[in-house]
Amino acid sequence: MQGMGDDRTIKNRWLWQGMQRLGIEVLNVAEDDIAELQAQGIDLKGGDRFISANLVSAATGAPLLKPYVVKQIALKGSSQKYRLGFLGLSGRESFSKTDGSGYTWADPLASAKKWLPELRKECDFLIVLACLPAKDAVQLAVDNSTIDIIVTGFKHQMSGFPARINQSTLIYAEDEGKSLGELRFAVVRGQKVDVQPANHALTRNIKDEPEMAALIRQAKAAVSQEQRALVNHNAPVAASDASASLFATASRCAPCHTAAFDAWQKSQHAHAIEILKREKKEFDSACVGCHVTGNGRPGGFVNLNQTPQLANVQCEACHGSGTQHLEKPTEAGMAKLAADSCLACHTKSNSPEFEFAAYWAKIKH
Ligand code: HEC
Ligand code: HEC
Ligand code: HEC
Ligand code: HEC
Repeated sequence: MQGMGDDRTIKNRWLWQGMQRLGIEVLNVAEDDIAELQAQGIDLKGGDRFISANLVSAATGAPLLKPYVVKQIALKGSSQKYRLGFLGLSGRESFSKTDGSGYTWADPLASAKKWLPELRKECDFLIVLACLPAKDAVQLAVDNSTIDIIVTGFKHQMSGFPARINQSTLIYAEDEGKSLGELRFAVVRGQKVDVQPANHALTRNIKDEPEMAALIRQAKAAVSQEQRALVNHNAPVAASDASASLFATASRCAPCHTAAFDAWQKSQHAHAIEILKREKKEFDSACVGCHVTGNGRPGGFVNLNQTPQLANVQCEACHGSGTQHLEKPTEAGMAKLAADSCLACHTKSNSPEFEFAAYWAKIKH
């Protein structure tokens, strides 16, 4: 579930509807999920689809949910049923504390050791759903030789997956529904011989399922409206505060850097908020960050109602605050840009084709 931004509970309400429609059978409850699932009024203990081996009672250490579940499936071309065992683990790095309800997060690696032997006996294929930092997911594979598959994912972090470590295949569950993961099991005479993971990018070339597409359209319109209502509660920043901001805006740089300003105006950076408006995402806290200037920084972008002047990727999104330089251009120089300054926004998932030389050529100034 979405764990950040004022609008997270609004979005999660629709996300949950979509997940219901997909027919989620097993869900590893991780970190911020608990608070969000509870905010939706979902009974975590109802049914057996919510699992976690390291969400435990602070008093007794007993798991709050089932640590694992076993599901039966038939493989293609065989009538024999196989048992898939799923164990759930969550990292606790950024966990926003226990909420007074009496449970806490135990060490995920120790919890795995505790439950794996029991689960191994009950299943043919053992899959760990591991919402863990990459180094812990790797450690899990190194420490345990009974796991077939580790499906990992942690805060937009991707690194070198899929990989085979010890007896395990590690795969990365991509975020934001951008791709569909697939696991192919090869079995010969009842013996597992191979697991092949694949990620299928859900590009525009793949047709939407009509009912899901309708739900998404409905969700987008409703969420956008609620996000707008949410920021309307906040008054615009007064002009006097705006001029005291650390961010001067591009128009203030224009008189002295005419050529740079002209080049910038022709670039997509100067219009980066338009594309969000087209998607009705201009008030979405998960989107605006890279499409504006100084998001979340002191004196930076807050939202389109309060700080409309800081929309778009302006000069200071890259060069940093220019207010001191404006006053004394020759004394207060602008910081030299680090070579990787583009990568804060041009991440692998948001800009898969990014390559500095080719991209810089398009915005050179
Ligand atoms: C009053 C004129 C003036 C304004 C307004 C101005 N600059 Fe400059 N800028 C200069 C001058 C002059 C230099 C050259 C400084 C030097 O060589 O010592 C410069 C240099 C730079 C450099 C080159 C790096 C460096 O420090 O040598 C960058 C980047 C820059 N300015 C960005 C900006 C941005 C961004 C803004 C708007 C926030 C801005 N400037 C506004 C006059 C201005
Ligand atoms: C981590 C930074 C980042 C975040 C967060 C982000 N974007 Fe972007 N977005 C980019 C960058 C960088 C590009 C340019 C990609 C390119 O051309 O290589 C882009 C391009 C786009 C485009 C035009 C290209 C395309 O894919 O059609 C759209 C539309 C878009 N973003 C929408 C969104 C929406 C909607 C969200 C929120 C769900 C979002 N962005 C969140 C960085 C981001
Ligand atoms: C997408 C990031 C980005 C944006 C937006 C951007 N710049 Fe730059 N700018 C760079 C990079 C990268 C360089 C080249 C490396 C360097 O000199 O630090 C550069 C170089 C410059 C230079 C020349 C420095 C020199 O030594 O010659 C100036 C002046 C400048 N930018 C001003 C501006 C102004 C004014 C704007 C807005 C109208 C702007 N830039 C927008 C990234 C950006
Ligand atoms: C603050 C976030 C941010 C930073 C930093 C940033 N970009 Fe971007 N960039 C974006 C967004 C968002 C878009 C998409 C805008 C749109 O399509 O409307 C984009 C689009 C682009 C495009 C247009 C891509 C196309 O399809 O033509 C180029 C080129 C580009 N960026 C180059 C750079 C380079 C080079 C740097 C580093 C010097 C950089 N950007 C730094 C956010 C950023």
